Amino acid sequence: MTSSLTARTTVLAAAHGLGKDYGSGDAAVTALSDVDCTVAAGELLVITGPSGGGKTTLLHCLSGIAAPDRGEVHIDGADLARLDDDARADLRRRRFGFCFQTLNLLPALTVAENVQLPLVLAGNPADRIRQRSAELLGTVGLADRGDAFPARLSGGEQVRVALARALVNDPAVVWADEPTGSLDSVAAAGVLDLLRGVVDRGGTVVVSHDPDVVARADRVLRLRDGRLVP
Ligand SMILES: Nc1ncnc2c1ncn2[C@@H]1O[C@H](COP(=O)(O)OP(=O)(O)O)[C@@H](O)[C@H]1O
Ligand SMILES: [Mg+2]
Repeated sequence: MTSSLTARTTVLAAAHGLGKDYGSGDAAVTALSDVDCTVAAGELLVITGPSGGGKTTLLHCLSGIAAPDRGEVHIDGADLARLDDDARADLRRRRFGFCFQTLNLLPALTVAENVQLPLVLAGNPADRIRQRSAELLGTVGLADRGDAFPARLSGGEQVRVALARALVNDPAVVWADEPTGSLDSVAAAGVLDLLRGVVDRGGTVVVSHDPDVVARADRVLRLRDGRLVP
C-alpha cells in the first residue's frame, strides 16, 4: 500500500460531471446525471438511496468497470479514461477488490479456488495462496466449505465467498455493491466488521446501500434518480 493511502484527507478518487445513460430513443434511461464526488483514502464511504437511483452505476464508473458517457473519473490523480486497458486491468488486479451484485463466482472452481484466484493472478507462491485463502474463508465463516462448488452454497454464503475473494489480496480499495443485502443481521454484522477492518488497516471501502452500513459509515452519498441529493 502506498503512503498516499494512509492519510484520511488524501483524495483517492474524484468524479466530475459524471453522467451515464442506458438504452436509446424512447427506452433511454439516464442512470447518472452531473455527479461530482470524491472518495477519500482511508474512509468507509456509503452510497445510498432508493432502488434504481444509480448506486450500482456510480460504483461501476468510479471503479473503472464501466465508462461514463459524460464527465471524468480520476484515481490517484490519473484520468481513468486515459489509462489503456492494461493499466486499468493492472489497477484493478493490484489495488482493488470487488464484491458486486452479480457475484461472478466461477462455477467450475471450488469455493477455495475462487477465493485464491486473485492471489494466483498476482503470482503468489502456492503455500502463501493456500494459507491466505484458508484464513479468509475462516474469517467469513466458511472454513469447512472450501472444497464445495459455489452452486452448493446458499445466496448468503456465496456473498461471503465473493467478499473473501475481494479481500484476499489486501486491496487498497474495496468496492462492494450491497454486500449485506441478502444476509441475516448476524452475518451482515460480520461483513461490516470485515469492511471496517479494511479501513482500520488504512484501506478504503466504497459500499452501496444498506441502513446498517449507513450507521457505520464515515461518510454517506445519497443518490436519487441519478443525482446526488444533500
Ligand atoms: N444495463 C442496464 N440497461 C438498462 N438500464 C439500466 C441498466 N443498468 C441500470 N439501468 C437503469 O439505470 C438506473 C440506475 O440503475 P442502478 O445504477 O442499478 O441503480 P441502483 O443500484 O441504485 O438500484 C435504473 O433506472 C436502472 O433501471
Ligand atoms: Mg444496485
